[in-house]
Amino acid sequence: MTETADAREADRALKAKHRTMWALGDYPAVARQVVAALGPALVEACAVKAGDRVLDVAAGSGNASIPAALAGGDVVASDLTPELLAVGRKEAEERGAVLSWQEADAEALPFDDGTFDVVMSCVGVMFAPHHQTAADELVRVCRPGGTIGLLSWTPEGFIGQMFATMKPYAPPPPPGAQPPPLWGREEHVRELLGDRVTDVEARRQSVRVDMFSEPEDFREFFKAAYGPTITVYRSIADDPERTAALDAALADLAGGALRDGAMEWEYLLLTARRNG
Ligand SMILES: C[S@@+](CC[C@H](N)C(=O)[O-])C[C@H]1O[C@@H](n2cnc3c(N)ncnc32)[C@H](O)[C@@H]1O
Repeated sequence: MTETADAREADRALKAKHRTMWALGDYPAVARQVVAALGPALVEACAVKAGDRVLDVAAGSGNASIPAALAGGDVVASDLTPELLAVGRKEAEERGAVLSWQEADAEALPFDDGTFDVVMSCVGVMFAPHHQTAADELVRVCRPGGTIGLLSWTPEGFIGQMFATMKPYAPPPPPGAQPPPLWGREEHVRELLGDRVTDVEARRQSVRVDMFSEPEDFREFFKAAYGPTITVYRSIADDPERTAALDAALADLAGGALRDGAMEWEYLLLTARRNG
């Protein structure tokens, strides 16, 4: 195999691993029960209106795509993980939303240049491992004058800190893969999008999460439902001491964030206009 063929094969294997990880547990329950407010917040920030052609990248089960379709957008929900798209399709039917669902890698979007009026991603594209490649794709498929909208967990916020807490227990990331919470830094995203966009607006906000009254409730829910957490626990399953240490660290993190039965999870909401 040539070096390029080797690299392509390695990327295919990495994406297959990611697909498997996101299909573990019950991510749609996380979207529905914990972070449902994020999708509508992103759709509102992107000012999606009737007739807009909208692409939701790394859409999962449609947290942002379904509200965008209900706002009148002509929406494509795309994601690496077909299991999540299947759940989204059903949920959309139940909510009376009409949109299309398409399996796609954020780093190689199967759409022509300038196809969409709005290209958005809700805590989604941040999980594609090669940030510049993914950002280039977002820009490419957005029409000149169109809107790019990104909602990403910040490194300092609760989910950024959950990833930092899990890191010492996780297998090392593959070479070249960048940490997801970097997308929660405004300067990083500005650099990725570069001078291909104007009118960048960014603000840090938080989503209130009040479904966990005890730190352990949060930890057990994420251990059962959230693919990245399940994957880290699986990697240390044969080591009871490390498992107990991670249990304690996640409970500490949640305990430090809980105030009167609720937590605030910080994210960066950034919108930009495609040049042209
Ligand atoms: C935290 S979920 C967010 C899903 C949804 N946007 C939401 O707000 O609930 C992250 C999503 O990123 C998707 N994903 C991860 N890597 C991807 C990639 N390279 N291309 C497309 N989707 C990807 C996963 O399948 C998963 O659906």
